[in-house]
Amino acid sequence: MNGAPKTSSSPAPNRPASIGRGLALTAVGAAVGAAAAAWFGQRRIDYRQAAFTAGLRTGLERLRLAASPAVLDGTPRRRLRASGDLARTQTVEDLRAIAHARLPGFALEYLEGGSEQEASLARNLDAFAQWHFEPPVLVDVSGREVSTTLFGQPMAMPIAIAPTGLNALFWPHADTALAQAAADFGIPCAQSTMSNDRMEDVGRISGLRHWWQLYVFGPRQVCEALIARADAAGCEALIVTTGAQIYGNREWDRRNRLPSGNLDWRCRIDALLHPRWLASTVLEQGMPRFANVVDYVPRDRQAFFDSAFWIRAQMDQALSWETIARIRGMWPRKLVLKGLIGAEDAARALHAGVDAIILSNHGGRQLDWSASALDVLPATRQAVGSHLPLLVDGGVRRGTDVVKALALGADAVLIGRAALYGVAAGGRDGVRRALEILRDELRRDLGLLGVRSIAELGPHLLRRTKHDAGNA
Ligand SMILES: Cc1cc2nc3c(=O)[nH]c(=O)nc-3n(C[C@H](O)[C@H](O)[C@H](O)COP(=O)(O)O)c2cc1C
Repeated sequence: MNGAPKTSSSPAPNRPASIGRGLALTAVGAAVGAAAAAWFGQRRIDYRQAAFTAGLRTGLERLRLAASPAVLDGTPRRRLRASGDLARTQTVEDLRAIAHARLPGFALEYLEGGSEQEASLARNLDAFAQWHFEPPVLVDVSGREVSTTLFGQPMAMPIAIAPTGLNALFWPHADTALAQAAADFGIPCAQSTMSNDRMEDVGRISGLRHWWQLYVFGPRQVCEALIARADAAGCEALIVTTGAQIYGNREWDRRNRLPSGNLDWRCRIDALLHPRWLASTVLEQGMPRFANVVDYVPRDRQAFFDSAFWIRAQMDQALSWETIARIRGMWPRKLVLKGLIGAEDAARALHAGVDAIILSNHGGRQLDWSASALDVLPATRQAVGSHLPLLVDGGVRRGTDVVKALALGADAVLIGRAALYGVAAGGRDGVRRALEILRDELRRDLGLLGVRSIAELGPHLLRRTKHDAGNA
């Protein structure tokens, strides 16, 4: 890895002062929050989603309990490190807290939200909790290695960055920041069709394993042009996203908008209350643009929100296995299908000549009540044997999540929000910190689990808790 950041993990040296600061901020935050609540006259989202809310962010967020099931509602009270000092963040959840403090509510909802009841979103997290480890002891784990290979290429750890659109909402040139951090850590980064930095510019990042995620929309020539550009940009893999031709039902998004599609006045005021975010994003770079596809949008629809709605309406709802066969014929390198959530489709993908699949329910943003990738992973691995690389995403926030996915048959995982928390907390350095935390957790977890390498992971190390066995 080239020049990973020096981020010590020393404990907080000045606890009373920081508690005092926290309390003062809580008081200010509570006052502002109460006034805002009265002013806005409504709660934004339900209690289960409280971590996502914008209200009372400043103070209470800092003193909020850390997300540890063992201490929730108990003592000692724990708090996340949301001070903005990346070096002192201990978990992905700390980076998330910083992101929550920095972003206005509508951007935060875009980052965090799922569709409808957010049952798929919740399942992605819960699915990991169904599995517990049974570690052997007295194993020499002194020489551990978290590196692996995918598509015959080395990967410093079995993690890739998932494609996410509209990242400029979180940090200026966030697509570039994500890709640079991935290159720093020797892992692949997938860039979305709906990204904001040009793929040709991202493709020039030295040492990057650049994957291009394709949404099939508009006339055929658009798809062909994007594939030709990804080829010319040297992308290692083309990821075709399935299951997203119909936009998921994200009610929170519509609640934030006027009938014209623009943000309503509450969101605009909220944005003004986040001057740091405002200065570094909209004021510095203007409204984000979908730089890779805006030229395919009619001239009178190229304004930011309008172009997003136009593209959404142009998604090819006839996308089928025939389309995949056509794309296979056009794309010379690795072809990956993303968004599959079952063994049968995985077996079909194998016969369609794809090089890998990503089991995914799109971070819970498409069909609600979808099974999670982890739920279908063991059966999918069984269906495709060892022939097809299987990647999974959804809910990966910890090294133990990565270990569980790999033990159940995945070759690697993708991280969406975990990387976005990093980028929203501190751009490239924030993503590097997220990757560093995950890598360190992974290395430690392997040792605690009594294994020396990724190749030694397997289902024999896991036990499924009985009450959820029906989901197998
Ligand atoms: C803000 C956001 C934007 C996303 N945009 C895209 C996209 O443009 N294309 C795509 O294939 N998936 C997209 N996804 C889904 C991710 O690629 C990935 O499947 C998901 O984030 C994994 O779940 P996780 O966030 O819990 O890690 C997006 C996810 C998020 C959170």
